Order: sequence, then structure tokens, then C-alpha cells
Amino acid sequence: MTRFGGPEVLEVVEDRLPEPRYDEVRVRVLAAGVSFGDVLMRAGALPESPKPPFTPGYDIAGVVDKLGEGVASPALGQMVVAFPKDLGGYAEFVCVPAPLLVPVPDTLAPAATAAAALNYFVAYQMLHRIAKVQAGQRILVHGAAGGVGTALLELGALAGLEVYGTASKSKHDLVTQLGAVPIDYREEDFVAAVRRRPAGARRDGKRTRGGVHAAFDAIGGTNFWRSYRSLAPGGRLVAYGVSRSIKNARRNRAVAVSSFLLVKLLGAAPAGRRAFFYTADSLSKRHPQSYREDLAAVVDLLKQEKIAPVVAKSLPLEEAAQAHELLEGSSVRGKIVLVCAEP
Ligand SMILES: NC(=O)c1ccc[n+]([C@@H]2O[C@H](COP(=O)([O-])OP(=O)(O)OC[C@H]3O[C@@H](n4cnc5c(N)ncnc54)[C@H](OP(=O)(O)O)[C@@H]3O)[C@@H](O)[C@H]2O)c1
Repeated sequence: MTRFGGPEVLEVVEDRLPEPRYDEVRVRVLAAGVSFGDVLMRAGALPESPKPPFTPGYDIAGVVDKLGEGVASPALGQMVVAFPKDLGGYAEFVCVPAPLLVPVPDTLAPAATAAAALNYFVAYQMLHRIAKVQAGQRILVHGAAGGVGTALLELGALAGLEVYGTASKSKHDLVTQLGAVPIDYREEDFVAAVRRRPAGARRDGKRTRGGVHAAFDAIGGTNFWRSYRSLAPGGRLVAYGVSRSIKNARRNRAVAVSSFLLVKLLGAAPAGRRAFFYTADSLSKRHPQSYREDLAAVVDLLKQEKIAPVVAKSLPLEEAAQAHELLEGSSVRGKIVLVCAEP
């Protein structure tokens, strides 16, 4: 990424092969995930966007190519999945701290593994570590046909939840297929839709009121407030992104900053409902063991074929700009991955 801007700022460059330092492993990337966070970084919309030039890409699946000093495992040739610490996933080779690598059986397809990595990890942590959902509860998922959205739907169904998902009308078949009730947020007020739910019986026999037990929102802006209003008493808003801070490839930092502030305010409100801003990074810092435990849990679900990530498209690494255009154009169902050619 040569500078902040539209997809055209993504350029393919040739560089020296990186050498792993102490406690690092060089990974030959087979597939790299493309996420909306990369788009926001590219536009410079996130306060934590690094200064260009940099290589984007949060998650990779690849094989161990070289061990740095002090590293005993994983073995050379082992397939692994990881979130490179300082981005850099859109590359043929990347050096990653050894403790961040989780082994993957080589029977798993690299594209599906990369598609699962960040999205299912994030969805798993938000459901089980932040919202602490229980079977029979009701949740609301925005961007339900997107990368993290489809992961929340699949993991939500596995956890025995009743799931409502907002998405563009053209993607409602996918939302239904994944076991959720679709809401066309352009035509229908999602707050009213989830609140008018009649009282019902939960699996434990207790009565429930309208509203959801948790709402997962990466849209930002006033959507956070509306998601908060969708909550049943004691419910939790889990904010985790600000997709609305970009429009037509142009950033709007004010939306990002005001969204973070709003969640802080709602989190401090003594209303019985709660609000959190989740980031994969901050949870891993507070609970270092959660990174390996939760990523391994996702790999395990993949191995057992309990989850089947929706790969929207596999594109060659050189087509990263096209991947961004597709993601920003709202046409993507599931996750785009970039695949690297065999050297
Ligand atoms: N906190 C974390 O650690 C973390 C980790 C991963 C991702 N995230 C965040 O999660 C969000 C989703 O990421 P993703 O990679 O799974 O992307 P995604 O949901 O696949 O993104 C594209 C979809 O988002 C919807 N969308 C809603 N508002 C949009 C807008 N203003 N511009 C474009 N699309 C919009 C569109 O679906 P419809 O047409 O159906 O509306 C679109 O197809 C992003 O905000 C990302 O930053 C956060």
C-alpha cells in the first residue's frame, strides 16, 4: 500500500526474501484473507492505520518455510494459520512470531482455512468470551452475509441461538441458508423487527421479552445506538468495527471517532444493558492464552467439518485491488481470499 486512498494504491512490489529473526518463523503464504478492515486501513479511516507504505493483510494460511533462531516447532513444511503481528499477509512470504502460529492438518484447503481464520476467530471470541451466549438466546448480526457475519451465523447456529441478520435483499437466501432470519435493513426498521418479537418460551422454560440478548455491530455511527435499543434488558452490544467510516473509497474519520465515543458512553450507562468495543488484538493482549485456544478451537471445528466458510472468491495475489473493489461494492457474499502461485 503506497499511500492512503482507493484500491489503486495497492501495488505489487518485489522485495528481498525476509529472514526470520529470533523466535520467528518464515511462512510461505498459500492464501491470505481480505477483510473490510484492510479496506479501512487502506483508506486511512482507522486511528490505528499504520503509516504507508505497508503491506496489508491480517490473516494467512501457509507452510513453514524457515525457522529463526530459538524456534524448535512447528516443523518445516507444516501447514499453519496465523495473524501476522504487524499485518503483511498479502505477500508470498511473511515472518511471524512462532507463538502466533497454530498448526493445521494439510488435508484442509488453504483458501477455506484462510477464509475461516480471522472471521471465525473473531466471531467465536465475541460470542463466547464477550457476549457469553447460551443456547436458546436471541442475537442480532449486522452484515450477516459478509465475512464475519456468515461466521457469526454459523457459530450461532452451532451454539443453539436464534439469529436475526441484516443484509442487502440480494443476499437473503444465504442468510436463510445459514439458519438465520434475514432483515432487509434498507426497507425495514431492524429495531422494530427484533423488538416486536412476541414473548416466548426459552429452552429452560423461562419467558423472554422482545429484543435480543446480544447485537453484533461493525457498521458504526448511529447504527450502534439502534443496535443498543434492540437489546432486551441485560443484553450486550458488541461493537467491533466502523464500516460506515468509508464511502466511495473516501474515509470519514469523524464517524470512526464518534462511534468509539458512543460505545464508551453506552458502556458507562447504568441501564442494565451493556456495551463493549471488541478488537481481536486487545482481547489477546488481556488474555494471551485466548489467541491460541480460540484459533485452535476454530481449526478443530474446520477439521470436524462443523463449519464451512463461505469463500466468495479466490483471486491471485496480484488482483488485491480488485478484491478491495468487490468488497467495497457490497457485492461479496462470504470472504475473498488471495492465493499465491507455487514458487
Ligand atoms: N474488531 C476486530 O478485531 C475485527 C476483526 C475483523 C473484522 N472487523 C470488522 O468487521 C467488519 C466486517 O468485516 P468483513 O471483512 O467481514 O467485511 P464484510 O462484512 O464482508 O464487508 C462487506 C459487507 O458489509 C456490508 N456493509 C455495511 N455497511 C457498509 C459500508 N458502509 N460499506 C460497505 N459495505 C458495508 C455490506 O453488506 P450488505 O450489502 O449486506 O449491507 C458488504 O457486503 C468490518 O468493519 C471490519 O473492520 C473487526
